[in-house]
Amino acid sequence: MANIIFENVAKKYGDTSIIKELNFEIKAHELMVLVGPSGCGKSTTLRMIAGLEDITHGELRIKDRIVNKVEPKDRDVAMVFQSYALYPHMTVGENIAFGLRIRKLNAEKINELVSEAAEVLGLTDLLDRKPKALSGGQRQRVALGRALVRKPSVFLFDEPLSNLDAELRVQMRAEIARLQKRLNTTAVYVTHDQVEAMTLGDRIAVMNKGEIMQVGAPLDLYEKPKNVFVAGFLGTPPMNLLNVRVEDNQIKNGVFSMAIPSAWQAALENFENKKLILGIRPEHITGANHGDSSGIYCKGQIEIVETLGHEVLIHVSMNEGKEKLVAKLPAHDIPKMGDNIKLELDVNAIHLFDAETEERIIN
Ligand SMILES: Nc1ncnc2c1ncn2[C@@H]1O[C@H](COP(=O)(O)OP(=O)(O)OP(=O)(O)O)[C@@H](O)[C@H]1O
Ligand SMILES: [Mg+2]
Repeated sequence: MANIIFENVAKKYGDTSIIKELNFEIKAHELMVLVGPSGCGKSTTLRMIAGLEDITHGELRIKDRIVNKVEPKDRDVAMVFQSYALYPHMTVGENIAFGLRIRKLNAEKINELVSEAAEVLGLTDLLDRKPKALSGGQRQRVALGRALVRKPSVFLFDEPLSNLDAELRVQMRAEIARLQKRLNTTAVYVTHDQVEAMTLGDRIAVMNKGEIMQVGAPLDLYEKPKNVFVAGFLGTPPMNLLNVRVEDNQIKNGVFSMAIPSAWQAALENFENKKLILGIRPEHITGANHGDSSGIYCKGQIEIVETLGHEVLIHVSMNEGKEKLVAKLPAHDIPKMGDNIKLELDVNAIHLFDAETEERIIN
């Protein structure tokens, strides 16, 4: 049962606080993705688990054992990095076996572990090749093999696919997910790519500026982002975030106004005359051609049309450019740049955030 628990874990370099206070659990057997923008502290968090960084204060537990002072080699974790750094003069087999040789395992056991890993990774026919005769994906698989043979309780991945081209990345991502499920090993996977996070993680922890913003299943975070940061971070194109205010029992800005639905009355009670941020995803906006008048409608001018294939993204400028919206529409009946358009926002898909705290208000 290799779970990992962070309790008030903080990290400073000198006086600079890099990780504020981490409090969360990575459950045994799950694949947890740490995702966030560059510099937010993902690698630092992972390296603290590996024991490659000291913890300034707080407690880190792996398998219910406090590991703050435990050497990396005694933590039963294996890490795969972005640069796979294989030894060029060694064969694939020797590269995979290298860590085991250092640990002085006997030759028979090493052979057994290497063959097993090669089998799992589809490298059996390549064991005698040198790294220079491998493709990028095969090299990354060798790097995975080196971690695999150690049969660790926890796998740590730090952007392991970012050196690969887009197609290979998608393929290797699926392989890692399959491997992790098959081996049933706890895994922590760091990426700054939110699509990778959404597709790979059993759960995702979204980080920003050394703090965890939200932890949960990918769809839960997508559907119920806890704050403006998570709302804007997950999803391509990102959620539209519009400035609105509450006034006379309405939510309005220079473009539209809507009566506050009764289900939101209680939550918005204290927001009269206050500013809010209204979030709406591009897929929850439709062209408003019908005569129904009960929804939220916006008029604007189309600035950009991006054709995706079966869908188009249109960028609409409203209220003389003070507000912008991106909508994802079906590709039939494609509007043109410069056209005026009327759009409808799906009231049931609206997110509301307090403009001051940026926290979610309605559920
Ligand atoms: N040895 C160090 N001394 C001082 N500051 C450091 C050191 N190592 C990292 N940092 C800082 O800590 C912060 C977090 O770094 P970290 O490498 O964890 O970010 P990251 O989320 O992995 O980013 P990326 O996506 O770019 O890899 C950064 O602002 C970085 O500059
Ligand atoms: Mg990093």
